[in-house]
Amino acid sequence: KTEDSASGVSVVNSGGPVYEDKEENDNARPEDLSELLAAGTKLVHEQAENTQFVKDFLHGKIRKELFKLGAVALYYTYSAMEEEIEKNKDHPHFAPLYFPNELHRQEALARDLEYFYGEDWQSQISCSPATQRYIERIHEIGREDPVLLVAHAYTRYMGDLSGGQVLKKVAQRALKLPPTGEGVFFYQFDSIHSNKAFKQLYRSRMNELELDANTKDSLVQEAVRAFQFNMEVFKELEEMGKTIQEDVLDGGPIHGHMEGDVSK
Ligand code: HEM
Repeated sequence: KTEDSASGVSVVNSGGPVYEDKEENDNARPEDLSELLAAGTKLVHEQAENTQFVKDFLHGKIRKELFKLGAVALYYTYSAMEEEIEKNKDHPHFAPLYFPNELHRQEALARDLEYFYGEDWQSQISCSPATQRYIERIHEIGREDPVLLVAHAYTRYMGDLSGGQVLKKVAQRALKLPPTGEGVFFYQFDSIHSNKAFKQLYRSRMNELELDANTKDSLVQEAVRAFQFNMEVFKELEEMGKTIQEDVLDGGPIHGHMEGDVSK
């Protein structure tokens, strides 16, 4: 049974300071792809949560230069992923998960980068080595085994929908970003009214894909790899953080209003 009415469901977002709790689904079958992915990435998810970069970020310990580099890494990642998704949007193993209007992040990230780096942002950014390895894998599977794109879309979009609101507030507070959303458009899914309902729709769409047990297994393995690519990027950012010269620190006194050029 599909839950295509997700856009009509309006669950009020509590906007609380913590992540939603992991939800259990009593009707789940063990062979459901959504269940296999959740179970198969449980350990690597815990590892990702425990990387220093992620822990620091969650505690508001993020400096603007590093946050900007994180946005750059995400920009290259989503550009690659969404390019391959576009190429494969009619593929029967991806088409039911094609939600460009609701999910795609490339444009939101471009707006964030323009805010941080100014009009000529494109000439100021470059792709880091860990991000390069991540996007090479995305392009490889887009070319050779597009069903595996499901694993990459799952890892990023489901994660973004789970933690986005929290991370957005953390970043806005720590970096003193304007309440209007500049710099954190990435975390804001304007066409999704209820993250929870949308995640349910996405899970049910994943479960309707006609996949044999081997393919499901490959998808779980690829999702683990996707988490690992993300962790490699976090580790790299952490290393870069040690060398970056810093100006903005969290928790410092508030120096009046953020007017004029805040894009340093
Ligand atoms: C789901 C917490 C980092 C990917 C969730 C959920 C929680 C959570 C509580 C369950 C939400 C629900 O069931 O509705 C956290 C915390 C993190 C973190 C506290 C960092 C401190 C990450 C990272 C990634 C990620 C770095 C991947 C890059 C996912 C995915 C799901 C998810 C794919 C969906 C799981 C599923 O329902 O199948 N996260 N997360 N998370 N998270 Fe995270």
